[in-house]
Amino acid sequence: MTVTVAPSILSANFAKLGEEVRMIEEAGAEILHIDVMDRHFVPNITIGPAVVESLRKVSSLEFDVHLMIENPERYVEAFAKAGADNITVHIEATKHIHRLVQKIKSLDVNVGVALNPATPLEFLTYILQELDMVLLMTVNPGFGGQKFIQTVLPKVVALSGILSEINPRCKIEVDGGINIDTARLASRAGAEILVAGAAVFAASDPCKALCDILLAAREEHN
Ligand code: DX5
Ligand code: ZN
Repeated sequence: MTVTVAPSILSANFAKLGEEVRMIEEAGAEILHIDVMDRHFVPNITIGPAVVESLRKVSSLEFDVHLMIENPERYVEAFAKAGADNITVHIEATKHIHRLVQKIKSLDVNVGVALNPATPLEFLTYILQELDMVLLMTVNPGFGGQKFIQTVLPKVVALSGILSEINPRCKIEVDGGINIDTARLASRAGAEILVAGAAVFAASDPCKALCDILLAAREEHN
């Protein structure tokens, strides 16, 4: 098992997005986290498939698209076509998670399901075997730069135990408030993909920040 850090473009400079993505790719990032918000599921608006399509032309990073939108079934096809490698949908945002997971799988991309901090793991019981990734939110979704919610850590530990029994290839991603200190905690708890927005892109040296978080996370990983 390895642990990696996925920089989130939410805190990047949108006026020079291509350059920032290339910079982070040269620094050794493997996954790029792309936050999509619709002002309905969360109180913020970000980007759509056109931006993903443009970034696809300048980057070969794994594109990890996190859909924080209502009725995500309407858009998964467009994001797959735009160049997403992983598509993650919130269980709270759809009435038909099983159908939606099958639809995403049929698009030949990896499928993830995200849970808000207060959503219980039990909601995943009958879908867990189908998934490539579970995203556990460690902030309430909508904005970068928020404080890590520590009470999600036992949820990471519990999920890690469940997955080792029933779907060991499924990865745990955590998203929100990741910095050097919380990266250690999340990694120790069993998370394998750590999303970091502000701690990377708002740092004076984003490449060094990325490496420092990655080193901290790897020190804790067993
Ligand atoms: C929040 C987003 C996150 C966000 C994380 O709703 O899903 O991906 O970019 O940002 P930080 O690392 O600044 O908390
Ligand atoms: Zn995210």
